[in-house]
Amino acid sequence: MNQVKINTAGGRSLVILDGTMDHISGLLPDRGLFIITDTNVSRLYGHAFPPGEVLVIEAGEKSKTLDVAGDLCRKMLEAGADRSAFILGFGGGVVCDIAGLTASIFMRGVRHAFVSTSLLSQVDASIGGKTGVNLGEYKNMIGTFRQPEFVLCDHSMLATLPDEEFRSGLGELYKHAIIRDRNLFLDLSASAGRLAEREPQILGDLILRAVKIKAAVVKSDPLEKGTRRILNFGHTFGHVLETHYAIPHGIAISQGMIIAAELSVWKGELPHAGLRLLEMALEKAGLLTRYRLPSNVVSRISRDKKGEADSVNFVLLRSVGKAIVRSLPLTEIQAFVTYYNEKELESQSQ
Ligand code: GLY
Repeated sequence: MNQVKINTAGGRSLVILDGTMDHISGLLPDRGLFIITDTNVSRLYGHAFPPGEVLVIEAGEKSKTLDVAGDLCRKMLEAGADRSAFILGFGGGVVCDIAGLTASIFMRGVRHAFVSTSLLSQVDASIGGKTGVNLGEYKNMIGTFRQPEFVLCDHSMLATLPDEEFRSGLGELYKHAIIRDRNLFLDLSASAGRLAEREPQILGDLILRAVKIKAAVVKSDPLEKGTRRILNFGHTFGHVLETHYAIPHGIAISQGMIIAAELSVWKGELPHAGLRLLEMALEKAGLLTRYRLPSNVVSRISRDKKGEADSVNFVLLRSVGKAIVRSLPLTEIQAFVTYYNEKELESQSQ
């Protein structure tokens, strides 16, 4: 079992990798435990829940709303929760986002932690203290930063993930390598077959390396004032594709990373060979998709990115393994989108 510590001014978090429920029994309170989970996870792992009040939300992105968070708060109050309550989010990305938000707003904040059951949440969503719900089509528009006390990742739970969800998690795993660690990227690419087979040893090793990257970035900038922005690589276009086409997060982010790499080439930051390397690796991993960008993409980006008026902070690549952040005018992004969509149309008609 491996552990990664994330100590920040706003809180300390312990990520327990390849652990089991035995590893957290001593970390939970004797009373006042509230388990927030979803319909799928409670069916699969309800038998493993520690003793506590279980609150079940519908599985899926549609549950990521303020109404659902408010409903969870109301149910906790009705069940007698007070400020000593402890919330355990038991599930994937959606559960972690909403359980974290509920923990940060219920009675102005109660303790919380996660048991992270999907690849997406084990490498990304449960780690780093971001919580959030969507506001209509705008992803994670309402949220807080609040570090979970611990995150338990039991890799054996990944065996039950549907294929598409597993690939979605792979997208975020690749992202961590692409922004910071070329060797990890090359290892991921070389191990694509064993990864797709979900071989426990390779999965454990690669998840640990990705989590260490995320932990280092979060420690250096927990509130995303600067460096942490690189974790949003692929998310600017990816979020628009995710909501427009209702596709899984990591799959949308994978295409978002390709588009961001194209933009990096267009801006003269990334050599074309870097883009090709990325395309080949993501194709091998079953992550290369070709959705067209919707016509209103730039206005959606400007709101989604919570940006300063006429420009947005955009994560580009210098090379595979090195991301940089640049402020780009929306007019420039619009010019690139026109170029990108025409190029895609041309290649589809060939
Ligand atoms: N998922 C991006 C971050 O945690 O900053």
